Parts: sequence; C-alpha cells; structure tokens
Amino acid sequence: MMTVAGKFRVIVGALVFFVMALASQPATAQQPTSVNPQASAVTESQLFQEQNRISGRCSLPDQKACTIEQPAGRDWRHFHEVTLRWIGGLVIIGMLVVLIVFYLWRGMVRIESGRSGRILVRFNGFERFTHWMTAACFIILALSGLNITFGKPLLLPLIGPEPFTAWSQWAKYAHNYLSFPFTIGVFLIFIMWIAGNIPNRVDLEWLKRGGGIVGHDHPPAYRFNAGQKMIYWIVVLGGGGVAVTGYMLMFPFYGTDIASMQAAQIAHAVVAVLFIAAMIGHIYIGTVGMEGAFEAMGSGAVDLNWAREHHNLWLEEESARTGSNETRRQPAATAAE
Ligand code: HEM
Repeated sequence: MMTVAGKFRVIVGALVFFVMALASQPATAQQPTSVNPQASAVTESQLFQEQNRISGRCSLPDQKACTIEQPAGRDWRHFHEVTLRWIGGLVIIGMLVVLIVFYLWRGMVRIESGRSGRILVRFNGFERFTHWMTAACFIILALSGLNITFGKPLLLPLIGPEPFTAWSQWAKYAHNYLSFPFTIGVFLIFIMWIAGNIPNRVDLEWLKRGGGIVGHDHPPAYRFNAGQKMIYWIVVLGGGGVAVTGYMLMFPFYGTDIASMQAAQIAHAVVAVLFIAAMIGHIYIGTVGMEGAFEAMGSGAVDLNWAREHHNLWLEEESARTGSNETRRQPAATAAE
C-alpha cells in the first residue's frame, strides 16, 4: 500500500513531467503561422508545404531576418515572377494592339471645319509646366518600374549582366528620387483642374454619343469632356495609389509587416501597369489620334474651330467671360502647319 506522502510525490512528479513536456515543444509549433504536425486537422499538402520553411533562431536585432523562406513568400514570388508579368504584358500590349487597330479603322480625328487661323488660350504656363513635369517623371518611373518586372527575362539576356546591372542601378535611383516631383505634380494636377473635372449631366450625353472620337459627331462639352475627366481621375487616384504604396515600399517596415509589404507591392505593381495602359491611350489621343490636340499642351493655345468642335460650351463660357473678340490670330510660325 502506498502512503499518503508517496501518493503526493507521484502526483507532483506527474505534474512536473507534464509541465516539462509542454515547455519542450519545438519552437516552430509555437509560431501561429507554422503547422503543428500533431494537430488532427493538418492535411498532407499543408505538411509538405511547411517542409519548405527555413527559419530558426538568430542573434540579429531584426528577428524577421531569421525566417529565410516561408510558404507566403513563395506565393508572393509566384505573383511577382509569373502572374504580374502576365497581367502587365496583357494590359500594355493589349492597349497598343487596340490603338493600332483603332487608328487603322478611324484614322486621325480631323478638325472638320478646317483651321480658322484664330487661337484661344487653353492652358497657361504653370499648367503646362506641371503637366510636362509630371509626364516626364511618369515616363521614367514607368520605364524604371517595368525594368523591375520585366528586365530580368527580357533585357538581361539581350545586353548581358554588367550593362544590365549598371542600368538597373541608375533606374532604381531614378525611380526613388523622381517619385517626389511626380507626387508633387499629381497633387498640383488635383488642385489645379478639380473644378473642371466634376462629372455632370453633359458627360452622360457625351458618352452616349461616342464622344466624337468613334464617329463624326460633336457632342457638347465644357473645358473637359467625359473622356478627359476619366483620365484626370485615373491620374489623381492612380497617382495617389502608386505614391502611397510606393512610399510603403521605399520606407519598409514603418508600421508594416511582411504581409502588408507584400500587399503594398502587389497593389503598386497592378495599379502601375493599369496606369501605364491608360496613359498610352491618353498619349495616343493627344498626338496621332486627334488633329489640333497636342498644341493645347504644346503652345498652350488651340484653334478656334477645334474648340468649337470639341469643347463648344467651354468656348461659349470663354467668349462670355473675356468678350468674343479675345481670340488671337494664329502666329505665322504655327499657321503654316
Ligand atoms: C510616388 C511615386 C512612386 C514611388 C514612391 C514608387 C516606389 C517604388 C518602389 C520603392 C518600388 C520597389 C522597387 C524595388 O523593388 O526595388 C517600385 C516598383 C515599381 N514601380 Fe514604383 N513608385 C512610384 C511611382 C510609380 C509609377 C508612376 C509607376 C508606373 C507608371 C511605377 C511603376 C512601378 C513598377 C512597375 C514597379 C515594379 C513592380 C515589381 O515588379 O515588383 N511606380 N516603385
């Protein structure tokens, strides 16, 4: 027969053994993101995936560095190396193909009543400076960003490792530093043109009638038509989106963890490629797509007949505001066109 003291010793011994067994569980089993192989709900595929985790203990102050590889990292890498390249390739090349086909079918939208020889100021010097500064930054940001996505499979085999390294390093500096004037430009565009870009009923009519670019109709429009308003909001929201997510990437782990850094990168890249496709459409209409459009941002003034055909309500407003004979004769240099 066991004495009371003996029974007590057995109970205490069992408790100590139980506590030691709990404390000696492997470290990975205590991490919420890893799989406990003893849990009944664990599936075989989960276990196989988890095998590829490389993580341990290290003395680095940044403990994130102790996880060298993990399943979520592999998902993100697949997005970056495969999915993003498909999305980017399809939207950018798709947009180019659509525009080429459209141009072959429609050709340039002409000033149907011909040039009047009189011009009207459309954008002042500050507006044009802001536009071109933002556009120049955008083009360099787009090329240097696309180098991160497509450079390794497309450019590296063409130019070789050393030139690719040198170019990528400069592209990366450009991408970081030009983000600041780009952000200022987007902000100025937002403030400068918001008044003319609030959607209204005239826009619905303009859209219903194909905007004058599809057929030969000239639906009424104020200073900015519905198509230009869409471009404005794409720039403001898309520009704001790439700026916020871009700065999250540029200043990593300030209030973000690995998962939110990955989300920021995915959002940045997807918004960027859609933004690039939209801007290709914008550049098309501003150059080969429509006669007389480029000079609005080039010299700042448009032909009166262009304004009458594409922005008749704006022309009426301007005439009422300034007196109808405020328009000027086309300077000799541009009249020769
Ligand atoms: C304020 C503006 C911006 C900031 C702060 C910014 C910042 C960044 C940063 C830090 C990266 C990651 C670079 C790396 O992995 O080393 C990146 C990648 C990228 N950016 Fe930007 N960016 C901005 C605007 C833009 C714009 C306007 C575009 C395109 C029109 C763009 C397109 C891209 C692309 C395509 C990538 C590569 C995505 C990938 O493959 O991972 N960015 N950006």
